[in-house]
Amino acid sequence: MMKVSILLIVLLLLHSSSLMVTSAASTPAAHQLTTSAYTSNELLSTTLPPTALTSSAPTSNLPHPQFVTNFTGSVNDHGTCQCSVSLPYTPFPVQKMESLVLTTHELSEEFYRELTKIKEYSVLIERYEQRLLNLTIRVETMEKTSISYNELDFELLKLEVKEMQRLVNQLKTTFVGSRVIIDQLEIEIKNMTLLVQELESLDKNNILTIRREIAALKNRLKECEESNKQNDLVQNFPPGSCNHSGVVNISKPSIIQLNWRGFSYKYGAWGKDYSPLTPEKTLYWVAPLNTDARYLEYYRLHNSKDDLLLFKNPRDNRITYGEGSGTAVYKNSMYIHMYSSRDIAKVNLTTNTVVVRKTLPNAAYNNRFSYAGVNWEDIDLAVDESGLWVIYATEASTGNIVISKLNDTSLEVLNTWQTKQYKPSVSNAFIVCGVLYATRAVNTRQDEIFYTYDTNTGQEGRMSILMDKMLEKLTGINYNPLDHKLYVYNEGYLMTYDLSFQTTLQ
Ligand SMILES: *[C@@H]1O[C@H](CO)[C@@H](O)[C@H](O)[C@H]1NC(C)=O
Ligand SMILES: *[C@@H]1O[C@H](CO)[C@@H](O)[C@H](O)[C@H]1NC(C)=O
Ligand SMILES: *[C@@H]1O[C@H](CO)[C@@H](O)[C@H](O)[C@H]1NC(C)=O
Ligand SMILES: *[C@@H]1O[C@H](CO)[C@@H](O)[C@H](O)[C@H]1NC(C)=O
Ligand SMILES: *[C@@H]1O[C@H](CO)[C@@H](O)[C@H](O)[C@H]1NC(C)=O
Ligand SMILES: *[C@@H]1O[C@H](CO)[C@@H](O)[C@H](O)[C@H]1NC(C)=O
Ligand SMILES: *[C@@H]1O[C@H](CO)[C@@H](O)[C@H](O)[C@H]1NC(C)=O
Repeated sequence: MMKVSILLIVLLLLHSSSLMVTSAASTPAAHQLTTSAYTSNELLSTTLPPTALTSSAPTSNLPHPQFVTNFTGSVNDHGTCQCSVSLPYTPFPVQKMESLVLTTHELSEEFYRELTKIKEYSVLIERYEQRLLNLTIRVETMEKTSISYNELDFELLKLEVKEMQRLVNQLKTTFVGSRVIIDQLEIEIKNMTLLVQELESLDKNNILTIRREIAALKNRLKECEESNKQNDLVQNFPPGSCNHSGVVNISKPSIIQLNWRGFSYKYGAWGKDYSPLTPEKTLYWVAPLNTDARYLEYYRLHNSKDDLLLFKNPRDNRITYGEGSGTAVYKNSMYIHMYSSRDIAKVNLTTNTVVVRKTLPNAAYNNRFSYAGVNWEDIDLAVDESGLWVIYATEASTGNIVISKLNDTSLEVLNTWQTKQYKPSVSNAFIVCGVLYATRAVNTRQDEIFYTYDTNTGQEGRMSILMDKMLEKLTGINYNPLDHKLYVYNEGYLMTYDLSFQTTLQ
């Protein structure tokens, strides 16, 4: 700082004097000058050649004097004392002077730049010091009081400390002067980081960890929703339409959330009601089985996806009892397999009462022909564009899949199709536009849609569409014709998949 200001003074001096000389040089005619300007300036004496200064009176007889010389004045007719010095016509080094002026100008600009930087840095440093002080006070308060602080407090603190670390690092790379202050700041900030960490570890209840997990889940949910939006754009088949040639691909799963009863409830089903006449009314249902992985006792309803995501405004109901993960919801009614029987029942979701209970003729039950890796799903109800179906097996079918179309009012069987696919060797099944799609496990992270049975034509088919999964077991796959999504229960997690369809060639 000191050095620079001295330089400034010198520069200013240079600047002013050179200007003075310039003006003298620009008019090569004789000028009246005071000698003091020259004598104080060493520089000038080196740039100016030692030329004689002559008085107005002819003094040619004088020997060539030094730059500064004595000369005599004269008194004129009016008694005024006159004294004049004249510069000779000897060419003045104008070019040298001009370059000097230029250099000086550049130097002074450079100086001002440096000066501004220093000013900025000192302001910044002051600000950081203020913030550090504030932080210290806050951390001290947190230390002193015994109240348990929440995640937000720590996160805010950590954010601020991190931001300051970043700024200090930035400063360090740009600042060329003394780094003592900055190094000091850095140490203090590092201390602060340690302190915050220490404080955080003192929080004995595990709330922070849980909150973090929730935050992570929420983030993933957001990503999933974004990718869903893109998928929705790609889907160009109208809701409920069967104007396509079947499923051609499936998206990556979107993890919606953990089921409302928790980690231990690894089997169950969930979905969105398909009510073709009131498509604007949404109803989400979640039906985890009890931890015995057999009985369906409690289910929960939400009227919107937001409520579902936030666990808000739930309607919890109890029934005695359903069995397995084959539950489906259609037109605001739930269809379930009644425990220890070959009966199916229709439950009015408004009143939570069994409206109709009906035997499914010859259906095997009591875990006789359930799906691979999933117990107690002998009878699997399904919904497609045309209504209610049931997927099961009989002794007569030797365990191969039997498909029946049901009257959703009376639960009577309207029609039945026998397939050649052994039910216990498929992991799950769903129906789209009258076509049954069956899945099987490829490994713990993927299933494959590998088999189709078209009830419209009675044709069987093979295909290979890989389905990623988060955990090993997919239970209760439910298709919704409105959004063309599969709602899947994956060991306690609720997931959705988007189906893409083959366009019909006309
Ligand atoms: C200049 O003037 C001073 C005082 O008037 C005198 O002492 C000195 O000798 C003079 N120098 C010359 C070179 O005339
Ligand atoms: C420090 O805290 C005081 C009072 O809490 C506030 O007015 C000031 O703006 C804070 N300074 C900084 C840099 O955050
Ligand atoms: C940083 O913390 C250590 C130990 O807690 C302490 O000795 C040191 O003085 C602190 N430094 C600053 C700059 O606060
Ligand atoms: C079915 O889709 C094709 C295009 O894929 C379109 O040209 C046709 O009009 C559609 N038919 C109906 C009934 O929507
Ligand atoms: C099928 O979907 C997967 C996952 O979204 C994607 O990576 C793949 O490219 C798709 N395949 C075809 C043939 O569209
Ligand atoms: C359920 O029961 C209520 C009350 O009896 C009735 O208003 C409603 O229509 C029923 N819902 C269905 C889907 O049948
Ligand atoms: C379904 O059952 C109801 C009540 O028994 C009956 O009125 C209706 O006609 C049946 N629908 C079909 C398609 O069979």
